[in-house]
Amino acid sequence: MKTGLTTKILPADEAGVKEAARCLAAGRLVAFPTETVYGLGADATNAAAIAHLYEAKGRPLFNPLISHVAGFEAARRLGRFDAVACALAQAFWPGPLTLVLPKRPDCGVAELATAGLDTIAVRVPAHPTAHAILAALGKPVVAPSANLSGHVSPTSAAHVKSDLEGRIDLIMDGGPVAVGVESTIVGCFGSPMLLRPGGVPREEIERVLDRPLKQAPADADSDGAQPLAPGMLTSHYAPRAKVRLNARSLKPGEALLAFGKPDVAGREHAAATMNLSESGDLAEAASHLFGYLRMLDATNAHTIAVMPIPPHGLGEAINDRLRRAAAGRE
Ligand code: TXA
Ligand code: MG
Repeated sequence: MKTGLTTKILPADEAGVKEAARCLAAGRLVAFPTETVYGLGADATNAAAIAHLYEAKGRPLFNPLISHVAGFEAARRLGRFDAVACALAQAFWPGPLTLVLPKRPDCGVAELATAGLDTIAVRVPAHPTAHAILAALGKPVVAPSANLSGHVSPTSAAHVKSDLEGRIDLIMDGGPVAVGVESTIVGCFGSPMLLRPGGVPREEIERVLDRPLKQAPADADSDGAQPLAPGMLTSHYAPRAKVRLNARSLKPGEALLAFGKPDVAGREHAAATMNLSESGDLAEAASHLFGYLRMLDATNAHTIAVMPIPPHGLGEAINDRLRRAAAGRE
């Protein structure tokens, strides 16, 4: 369903950044590239703009948003940093890491953005366009991935356009993103906890902290409990096609999402094949993941069969997203 807005698409140059900041300041919705995925931004201090954002995405209101800021000083005005949070910010910001911190009561971020929680998710993105917009606006920007709720996250401006054209004001086209999976989310209230695997591998975080991260409890919709990262619903990132994981052979009519050497029986009968990384490079695979899922989905194959992906490094985030794409779909 379109809302009839005219969605402008601008290149991510100086004039584009100015227009993006002007739109955000006026309470409008702007999609922009970050190094992980494209985000759909709204002024985090403007409740009406955030309500509009939830509506444009078709997102459930209980799902809180990440506040993006230009640097550490701005982040400190939103949440309280303990020693662990400081160490992680220093090691990984700007970059694909989100910290969930105790919220400062005077942070100015609308209650709607934090869904009434007493914590706040904060991230300093590394992408130059994202950084330039945040610096020009001088306020925090909430930005979920710029897709319709439940769809695969967008890694190019064309993906954003196909989901949100007519529903948002502006798309900044900064080309394809570098990382391709969303930020890693670490809870820094009590002992540090991995709330969502993502663009910074768990191993790198554990190396900086010199101890293992606690694992967040299982997803909410499997056992009905309140999730710690409430957006991590089991069935999410869902293509139209069924997704079959750890495929070692192909059934008739299936499309193949390969990784490394495609030694899968029956692959010559694949409806279509995309290889996440022929050389078996997990970073390359992450950057292709969502785009290739969209492309295979567009072939109308009934099922996308996915070869096994190793679980270490960025493989943890890739497998997490693939499990969600496969979950709960009959
Ligand atoms: O890479 C990313 O993080 C991208 C780019 C655009 O920055 N953003 C993104 O946002 O992935 P989104 O809204 O799709 O995911 C935000 C996640 C959700 O799972 C949400 O539940 C969780 O962050 N979250 C937000 N605030 C939280 C809080 N206070 N406590 C726990 N989880 C929180
Ligand atoms: Mg998302």
